[in-house]
Amino acid sequence: MRIFRFEEIDSTNLFLKNMKDKKDYDVVISKKQTAGVGRRGNKWHSDIGGGYFSFALKEEPNIAQEEYGKLSLVVGYSLLKTLENLEKKLNFMFKWTNDIYLENKKLSGILIEKVGDFFIIGIGLNINNKVEDEIDDIGISLKKITNKEYDIEKLIIEIIENFKKDLAFYFNGNFDTILNYLNKKDYLFEKQIAIIFGNKDKINGCAKGISRDGQLIVDVLGNKKLFNIGEIHIEK
Ligand code: BTN
Repeated sequence: MRIFRFEEIDSTNLFLKNMKDKKDYDVVISKKQTAGVGRRGNKWHSDIGGGYFSFALKEEPNIAQEEYGKLSLVVGYSLLKTLENLEKKLNFMFKWTNDIYLENKKLSGILIEKVGDFFIIGIGLNINNKVEDEIDDIGISLKKITNKEYDIEKLIIEIIENFKKDLAFYFNGNFDTILNYLNKKDYLFEKQIAIIFGNKDKINGCAKGISRDGQLIVDVLGNKKLFNIGEIHIEK
């Protein structure tokens, strides 16, 4: 595993996407980002003290492409397990498709992009950082809860090493175990939500878990519907 370390960078995802001759499990870590990106073009606040990293995963030709369709769930599952192992008493929750929540606030987000035959898996994790006032009502860091100072790089390496094992576990036909676990830790379960689409269309319903094919199950006016895209808002 090659590690590329930066004091500051625009975005670790962008750097790895543009990097020539990348290899499987190359990792880019930065102490802060000046243009951290989230899903759907959102900004990812990236002040010093947080974990900002991306790693490359090479698509294996002998694995069917649809197997990679649930990659975001596998990454979320693996990250959740690593955090649970780090802080056994905290109740981390999984928010479909791959956010980690703690005390009803977002602790971590995952952005997966595809370039050529590589997936670029980018993770932003609030570790020792103070979440900016602007997003203090929606974001949280580990340190805010535990008052501990963590070794950021050590945690990042652990997340990636555990992911390698969990990906092999998934490819070995264990998606059911992963799915059952995610459904146990499903932050959205039984919450009233709005699914907002790119064209601003919106559907309201009650979240009912994650389906066998990795989609979100939503009860819309008494009918079970499945969604695999859209931004999820929790209705107050
Ligand atoms: C989201 O929840 O919207 C995903 C956030 C992903 C942020 C991480 S931080 C490291 C990597 N580099 C980026 O620019 N984004 C990802």
